[in-house]
Amino acid sequence: MNFMSVSADAESNFTIGAEQNGEGRARNALLDRVMAPNWRKKSSNALRRGYMPSRGLALVARNEFGSLIGTIRLWDVASENGKHGLLLGPLAVDDASKSSGVGSALMKAAISKATELGHGAILLVGDAAYYERFGFSAGLTQQLSMPGPYEQDRFLGLELKKDALAGAAGVLVPTGRKLIANQHKNKLVG
Ligand SMILES: CC(C)(COP(=O)(O)OP(=O)(O)OC[C@H]1O[C@@H](n2cnc3c(N)ncnc32)[C@H](O)[C@@H]1OP(=O)(O)O)[C@@H](O)C(=O)NCCC(=O)NCCS
Repeated sequence: MNFMSVSADAESNFTIGAEQNGEGRARNALLDRVMAPNWRKKSSNALRRGYMPSRGLALVARNEFGSLIGTIRLWDVASENGKHGLLLGPLAVDDASKSSGVGSALMKAAISKATELGHGAILLVGDAAYYERFGFSAGLTQQLSMPGPYEQDRFLGLELKKDALAGAAGVLVPTGRKLIANQHKNKLVG
């Protein structure tokens, strides 16, 4: 993905682009700052640990100085009965840049890129009050479940192709490319 400039308002300038090799450390530091302390133990992480993000679907936001201020990743998953999709998360924006449109820009860029790459659906566990504005709904995940504890009304889906989640049922499983040993060492996880 080429970098695109996004200006949410006159006071905030940022760009959205592909996460680069070597940005893992800054990303992990951001996640440690803004996420709940137990985020690595969540059910979503069981579908990410040991895998690489879906090709082309690790994006970051940078401020005008090039510092990383936001991150989003999507992961290849499938339902137990073989319907393929993407799991979104984590999405996080640095406290100093919140409510400036960075999160929305990351979401829109990720949805657009996933559509361009031919994916059919995106799933996530998060606040419906935030994600509904991008078209996510809990109605699409009623027959699906996460591998571990989660709240069903926070388990949301978005179809990028018509009826992509129709008939999808059962527990999600990871289907992405596996991390190799040295990538583990660089903590390119979560
Ligand atoms: C959620 C998050 C990514 C939003 O990023 P952001 O850059 O502030 O988002 P935007 O600027 O696009 O949108 C901000 C709007 O979303 C609202 N919003 C933020 N988090 C929300 C939530 N959990 N539920 C409902 N609305 C939320 C804000 O109140 C704000 O509303 P306003 O525009 O009426 O003022 C960011 O707050 C964050 O990193 N939170 C901590 C990590 C996290 O919880 N991530 C998962 C979200 S379930």
